[in-house]
Amino acid sequence: MSRLYCSWLPREKSAGLFRRRQYFSSVICRSQGKLISTAAGELERTAGLIGADMSGENAGGKCFILDTDACLGAGGYRVSTDERAVTVTGGDEAGVLYGVYRYLILAAADMPEADSVICEKPAYRFRMLDHWDNADGSVERGYSGNSLFFRGGNVTDDEEMLTDYARLMSSAGINAVCINNVNVDATETLFITDRYLGAISLIAEVFGRYGIKLFLSVNFAAPVQLGELDTADPLDRRVREWWRNAAEHIYSVIPDFGGFLVKADSENRPGPHTYGRDHSEGANMLAEALEPFGGVLIWRCFVYNCHVDWRDRSTDRAKAAYDNFMPLDGKFADNVYLQIKNGPMDFQVREPVSPLFGGLEHTNMIAEFQIAQEYTGQQIDLCWLVPMWKECLGFNTHGGSPVSSRICGAAGVANTGDGAFLTGSPLAAANLYGFGRLVFAPGLSPETIAEEWVRAALTTDDGAVRTITGMLLRSREIYENYTAPLGVGWMVTPHYHYGVDVDGYEYSPWGTYHYADRDGIGNDRTAETGTGYVLQYGKENAALYGNIDTCPDELLLFFHHVPYTHVLHSGKTVIQHIYDSHFDGAEAVREMLESWKELEGRLDPEIYRECLKRFEMQLKNAERWRDVVNTYFLRKSGIADEHNRNIFI
Ligand code: GCU
Repeated sequence: MSRLYCSWLPREKSAGLFRRRQYFSSVICRSQGKLISTAAGELERTAGLIGADMSGENAGGKCFILDTDACLGAGGYRVSTDERAVTVTGGDEAGVLYGVYRYLILAAADMPEADSVICEKPAYRFRMLDHWDNADGSVERGYSGNSLFFRGGNVTDDEEMLTDYARLMSSAGINAVCINNVNVDATETLFITDRYLGAISLIAEVFGRYGIKLFLSVNFAAPVQLGELDTADPLDRRVREWWRNAAEHIYSVIPDFGGFLVKADSENRPGPHTYGRDHSEGANMLAEALEPFGGVLIWRCFVYNCHVDWRDRSTDRAKAAYDNFMPLDGKFADNVYLQIKNGPMDFQVREPVSPLFGGLEHTNMIAEFQIAQEYTGQQIDLCWLVPMWKECLGFNTHGGSPVSSRICGAAGVANTGDGAFLTGSPLAAANLYGFGRLVFAPGLSPETIAEEWVRAALTTDDGAVRTITGMLLRSREIYENYTAPLGVGWMVTPHYHYGVDVDGYEYSPWGTYHYADRDGIGNDRTAETGTGYVLQYGKENAALYGNIDTCPDELLLFFHHVPYTHVLHSGKTVIQHIYDSHFDGAEAVREMLESWKELEGRLDPEIYRECLKRFEMQLKNAERWRDVVNTYFLRKSGIADEHNRNIFI
């Protein structure tokens, strides 16, 4: 797992740490506890890296002081530096650990903030990673090799690797990890039994040293699938008892177990609907089993019909989550959290924010983001997603309150694996780090997060930092430009989801259509002539999106079916926008590739080469998208490009 250290935690030869090495002479712990020992261990480890002397003898009395003060709140901390000491005070043990990590990252990045007072308190209780890892070692939508946790049906016992993983995630502020895929198959159904629990408890124990709780995805039909009952009906007394016993047993093996994550009645997964019960009855039954142990139940809202007939224009997949869950608002137990994808479809590069965030008033919510770049370039193409997540958190729902103030946290679908680099592309680690930071401190700007990551993970050379930070910040817009236009989404290779196939999903049962014909394109989701999806938003947003004159350009085709000659706010017609954005997008990738080449010799050579390879692949991908999309729409519309560029009629 050595490449893990190409990431943001301090590594050898950091000038920033070296300059502050006098403080690495000793650690004074004024409070005790498991996480404080971990924090002290991190300081000692870093001292080892930079050749500092921890004996306390040679640094004129300088040291680290670790302390707690409940006033700073759970996970909160303050770090202050004076001539004598760097003092890290945490609101609790976890706060001390976060404060130490923060100091180490900022010092290694050689940022002046390291020497001023740093004060933070996590905005949310849940800062979670969801791994879509399977027992056989494969990772669903994994683009970085195989699972870190499983191989060939077995659970890893590689404590060193698990420790590396846990410290990295904890240093980004993550405090909960679900280690297995939401699609729970036969083998993973056994994870909650003695066949696996012992081995999983080792992972939980390592996580625990870093303040991370372990969660498991469970199979709603487990009592049936394990051959123990003939029903999984959540209202059946035997089923309730079965889950109560299962939970009790799990907690006897893993005392600080976090809880369950459930995908039910979705994409052919079992769920309460089989028994005529609703999602609240299903979720509450599991929540009741976990409740005596302080466990929580996370229930996903990614529920829709994946068997629709494309000829039937009355259904709209975008409406599904709201339709399923709004009627149940207020019916969920206190320890149930609904996990809602940021958009109503499925992690496209541009979607409106899910209306459920504004709709649910009496239900605990967690936002679900996808750090893994399933639809956004699969960690080959650069697409830094923090700006998109920030938009979601900042979105004003109908009550005027932003999503960020309505949720209890966020879960990110992890982008890690055992490949040569933890995240496939070394640059994709910026999404992982950025997710953790943003969920810890949603007020941070993407610029700050990007710069901090580049300096901590790649280089402190100011010119290179500017170049790479600039690339990260522009990358989502660039990706959006050369892929599906104006919020319409999809147009990807079916199932695989990398690369262009404009009609790949057009006549499929998945409910993901662009409806392009010779005159126009887009989904009419208005109240008057369309599916009425806009009505799921509060009045102001419904009016904004429903009116073709006020709907933002970037979402126009998500909400409206318009002629190719429709004029956007930008002043361009839709068809000209399609041509221009695709030429611009591919050109911008070429520029990124050229800028990257200028960094040769200024970065770790392996990182440089790996990214170079990926930028070259991205350019091919972008050029193909450009040519296929432009040709498709020129053929459909018969309208020529104003600039008469090369389109393959
Ligand atoms: C997407 C993805 C699936 C995944 C699903 C989910 O549809 O392609 O692989 O299982 O999301 O979030 O449950």
